[in-house]
Amino acid sequence: MLASPPPQTGTRPEAPPAIRFDQVSKTYRGGQFKALDGVSFDIHQGEFFGLLGPNGAGKTSLISILAGLSRASGGAVSVLGHDVVKDYAQARKLLGIVPQELVFDPFFNVRETLEIQSGYFGVRNNGAWITELLENLGLADKAKANMRQLSGGMKRRVLVAQALVHRPPVIVLDEPTAGVDVELRQTLWQFIARLNREGHTVLLTTHYLEEAEALCHRIAMLKAGRIVALKRTSELLADTASTMLRFKTDAVLPPELAAQARITGRIVQLKAHDAAEVETLLGRLRGAGVPIEDLEIGRADLEDVFIEIMQSAGREGQ
Ligand SMILES: Nc1ncnc2c1ncn2[C@@H]1O[C@H](COP(=O)(O)OP(=O)(O)OP(=O)(O)O)[C@@H](O)[C@H]1O
Ligand SMILES: [Mg+2]
Repeated sequence: MLASPPPQTGTRPEAPPAIRFDQVSKTYRGGQFKALDGVSFDIHQGEFFGLLGPNGAGKTSLISILAGLSRASGGAVSVLGHDVVKDYAQARKLLGIVPQELVFDPFFNVRETLEIQSGYFGVRNNGAWITELLENLGLADKAKANMRQLSGGMKRRVLVAQALVHRPPVIVLDEPTAGVDVELRQTLWQFIARLNREGHTVLLTTHYLEEAEALCHRIAMLKAGRIVALKRTSELLADTASTMLRFKTDAVLPPELAAQARITGRIVQLKAHDAAEVETLLGRLRGAGVPIEDLEIGRADLEDVFIEIMQSAGREGQ
């Protein structure tokens, strides 16, 4: 059972957003490098929100500013109306952050680590909730294990438990499933989805786009420190709604087809706008003598949308 009061969902117009990023910028190397360039958006209370972008886009930089671990070079960030700099203690309490990097005190066991974290937030008698966290994250049999003895994936589970120990209304997950096995990914998502249904806001970054597609109500895409797309997940998919032709081949595609294909090992994907274009593409492949196996025709997924948006944002930026 979750005893934390679920935050109000954004039905009241005066309700503050769960998270507000207002013209956030961040420069490194004495101002020479701009990692974030005027990022502004709101995450509503109760939302499951995805922040996607290639390596180095600025996702962790933005989350570090939100967590108060790093200072913005410009702009402001607030959590449920509390400024993360001026009102740090209050904002920090409202957040549960799963960081991308694994950092731990190696001297404690799993349960002790969670008890210490509870103490840090001033939460007493947290045993029942810690037990529930351990069970939901598949850590029950590791409660007494020393942090040093855990595998990488187990350590990540503890990081998730640590972030949730004070039942924060706003949960931020920076690549929580990196290096995590399939089974835990499923249990983790069930658990996080349950917390979201119970009213917790979730901000997620991930490179597993099928996870984002399945879980997120809205998605923002970040590229080189700027937001290049922000929409409901269904709208993002609908905008790029097109047919994808997927097949396997050992042959090399003719250059004009290769230029428009997404190639992963033997798997080739080609985009077609309609059925007629599917036929044209198949004709061109046959004409070029490309043998094809396991042909599938399906709808574009979030990965296709992501690639298309990143490519067109790249062209505009040049
Ligand atoms: N402390 C730092 N000093 C200098 N540059 C930094 C620092 N931290 C991050 N950067 C740079 O800022 C940019 C954004 O990095 P960031 O870690 O925010 O990206 P990311 O979107 O989280 O990427 P990933 O998907 O790889 O986690 C990168 O070019 C990175 O090299
Ligand atoms: Mg990162």
